[in-house]
Amino acid sequence: MTAQISLRSDRYNERYRPQLHFSPLMNWLNDPNGMVYFEGQYHLFYQYNPFGHIWGNMHWGHATSRNLVHWQHRPVAIPAGTVDHSYVFSGGAVVDFNHSSGLQREGEKPALIAFYTHSGDKGENQRQSISYSLDGGESWQDYAYNPVIENPGIKDFRDPKVFWDAPRNQWVMSLAAGQEILFYRSTNLLDWEFSGRFGQHEGCHRGVWECPDLFPLTTEQGETRYVLLVSINPGGPNGGSATQYFVGQFDGAQFTPCQHETRWLDWGPDNYAGVTWESAPGDLDRRLFIGWMNNWQYANQVPTYPWRGQMTQVRELTLLERDGSFWLASTPVCENRELRRQSHMPVPGQLHAGESLELAGGELLEVQLQLEDLAEDALVSVRFDNGQGEFAELRLDLAAGQFVLDRSSAGEDKTGKDFAYSYQAPVAGSLLKSMDLRLTKDASSLELYAQEGRTCMTGLFFSDAPLQRAEFRCYRGAVRVGAAQVWELESIWVGETELV
Ligand code: FRU
Repeated sequence: MTAQISLRSDRYNERYRPQLHFSPLMNWLNDPNGMVYFEGQYHLFYQYNPFGHIWGNMHWGHATSRNLVHWQHRPVAIPAGTVDHSYVFSGGAVVDFNHSSGLQREGEKPALIAFYTHSGDKGENQRQSISYSLDGGESWQDYAYNPVIENPGIKDFRDPKVFWDAPRNQWVMSLAAGQEILFYRSTNLLDWEFSGRFGQHEGCHRGVWECPDLFPLTTEQGETRYVLLVSINPGGPNGGSATQYFVGQFDGAQFTPCQHETRWLDWGPDNYAGVTWESAPGDLDRRLFIGWMNNWQYANQVPTYPWRGQMTQVRELTLLERDGSFWLASTPVCENRELRRQSHMPVPGQLHAGESLELAGGELLEVQLQLEDLAEDALVSVRFDNGQGEFAELRLDLAAGQFVLDRSSAGEDKTGKDFAYSYQAPVAGSLLKSMDLRLTKDASSLELYAQEGRTCMTGLFFSDAPLQRAEFRCYRGAVRVGAAQVWELESIWVGETELV
């Protein structure tokens, strides 16, 4: 039996509780899983421990949304094995729109099919399994002949993500195996044939490869390429876990990169294991992404209670051709505008070293700045502080050619695991005199989307008192603020109900 109740006012109001990001009411969350759009609903599943506040007992938790901003909690969709206690690890889901599998009932809705890794509780015997839903994602049942891909003797063999490869009329699965990605293909979603591998001598190899996602994107100029996301842990550019991407061609069997430089989807410490939404062909004309806003380095220690784990904002991915190569760009989905309340327009103008511009007050903020006439050695920042000595800051240092996300003064390290540092990202492409910056600031996180979304940085912080004041500063050189707009935002949980 389920019942709808209104959220009590003490829920989703705890210290550090994200107000602009999805988090479970209580207990542990890690990777987003099985995102699929069907009949007007965005499904979000996630790695969930319903019995504890640390990683373990992996189930698929479930939430749905009609606008990618407000979420409804749903009952656990796929539980850990009741008989053999096997854990349900990460994976993807598809709409079986052309009835490839034969699992749907005659004349009824297409089946939603979820692919995931069954694993022992110590991570042993990783194999790929299926569950399916015949009621649009409300209830799920295990496929009778699991696993669909047995473990071939590879220790790390997980995180299947499937998409419809329209040009070849087939389904394609990417799967992480050690430090490689394996590709499989199928016509019925049940029987899978190995078709190719990717990874040797490509990208970063300082850790295990996880959570792949392969999909086509087309540039504004009409060039289509395939993008392959690969999460890696550890080995991120700023330590711990992070997600790299490759751009190339896919012939239905093999992926061939067309550029070889290692590229990071997000240079901040806290965007991991993200993948994108699937749908029936033509139902979603955007590539939508969500990541786990955390890092394995300290994920089990972050000081939040009674939940632990939150997602990034939903982002739209696009492929841009700039400076002679392809770039994957991320920007927050336009639906977030629904959260805008009070708007501020700080007066634009020239700033010299030592000068600052008050942006707004408030804990939940969206900031958009267009900087012009940046001096070659300019050092500028967007700084969120609480007047009590704590601040989190995003700096652009043109002399060093980098962005810096600095949380070293946003409260002491409450994880005991090397948390309170600053993190660097190189400015993408050639250095310019102008720069676009977008920031989203929540109760315990900061997200930067710069250079049309080519450079992103996402970071958590846990200050002792809320960071309520936003300011733009010029530390060195000079800059002209061409346009500035700031919004105070409303919580996504206002007026929400939950299923219990
Ligand atoms: C990534 C990951 C996946 C795995 C899951 C287990 O964060 O390690 O590779 O499927 O978490 O919860």
